[in-house]
This record gives sequence, C-alpha cells and structure tokens, in this order.
Amino acid sequence: MHAARPLTEGGHAVTTYKVGYFVGSLASDSINRKLAAALVRLAPSNLEFTEISIKDLPHYSRDYDDDYPVEARALKETITSVDALLFVTPEYNRGLPGALKNAIDWASRPWGTNSLSRKASAIIGASTGKLGTAIAQQNLRSVLSFCNAPQMSAPEAYIQFTPGLITDDGEVTNASTEDFLRNFMFEFEQFIARVLTVVPRPS
Ligand code: FNR
Repeated sequence: MHAARPLTEGGHAVTTYKVGYFVGSLASDSINRKLAAALVRLAPSNLEFTEISIKDLPHYSRDYDDDYPVEARALKETITSVDALLFVTPEYNRGLPGALKNAIDWASRPWGTNSLSRKASAIIGASTGKLGTAIAQQNLRSVLSFCNAPQMSAPEAYIQFTPGLITDDGEVTNASTEDFLRNFMFEFEQFIARVLTVVPRPS
C-alpha cells in the first residue's frame, strides 16, 4: 500500500501535476463517475484534478474545423493546460462510448493541432459485467495510440462494480479495491513524472 506523497519530501518541494479527467458516461448515476471520485480521493496529494466535460459537445464534423464551437475550444484549451489525462470509462457494446470518442475526435482536430499529442494518459473503467471494461479499454488504447498520447501500460485496471462498492462521494467500501485504486494512482503519478522527463512541458 502506498500513502499519498506529501508536498515536501526531505525538505524538497514535490512537483505538482495537473490531471484532466474524462468520465466516459453521461448517466446521472454513473458508476464510472463514482470511480472517478474515488480516484481523486486516493491520488497522491501532488496531483490536481479538473474534470473535462464531454456532455455539451455537438457531434464532431470537419465542417467545424474553420470555426470550432465554444465547447470544443474549451475542451482543447483544458487539455492543453493539464500535464496528464485520466480516462474513466464504461464499455458500451464491447467498445468505447460514443460521447467519449466524439470528445477525442474534437480534441484531435483541426489537423495539425492535436491536443492529445504527447499527453501522459491512463485508462481505467468500471462495468457491471465481469470483464470490467477490458474490451473498451483496448479500443481506447488503439485510439490514443493513433493520437500519439503516451499511455501507462501497467497496472491495468478492470473494475467490476458491485452494488455499494463506491459511494457517490468516492468512498470505497472494500479495502482491497481501495488499496488497488490507491496504487493505480501512485503508479500514474510516477508515470506522469517519467513522461515529463522525456517530453517536458512547453515553456
Ligand atoms: C452496457 N453495459 C455493458 N457492460 C459491459 O461490461 N460490456 C458491454 O459491452 C456493455 N454494453 C453496454 C451498452 C450500453 C448501451 C449500456 C447502457 C450498458 C453495462 C454497463 O457496464 C453498465 O450500464 C454500467 O453501469 C455503465 O457505466 P456507467 O454509465 O454507469 O458509468
């Protein structure tokens, strides 16, 4: 088990990283939204989180490329402003939910302005089924690879959501799941630091 890192270690300041997170579900009682709340709670204290909303984006068309709507501009600006991206997504019909793919399509365009390029990313998801979003995650990995987003490859995290596993506030009621999610976020913080070592923030 890894405790959250303090903001100073041995008298030295610990670098803070900004993380934008996507919830791939638009459902008001989404289990993936509960999972996202848990991940924010359990993350090392030097990670700062902002949700990147996808619900108000129109359907992407390249007809918009010369004049992006305000929601899509905001999406790209938020992605640009963060150090890393966390995708918390359900699986729909063995694939990525359309709303999340739509957001990625907006972020990747207009051609030559791909906001996802070189952004440290991690993927996790919860489903009611035993596969725990594994197939949607593979689908998303393929999309993010094409978009040139470096992805944390391990640990993988396929969460089967049982009733009451995580509260609306993100409290995890099962100790081993809590430890697993805390470790996932610890590893993500380490991954972000490694990616920023070789792909520094733009000055
Ligand atoms: C699902 N669900 C689902 N589950 C799964 O494990 N594999 C799948 O392919 C699908 N497909 C699917 C399609 C559609 C359209 C819906 C609405 C649901 C069930 C899914 O895991 C469950 O509804 C979760 O609660 C979805 O996550 P959110 O929306 O609660 O975060």
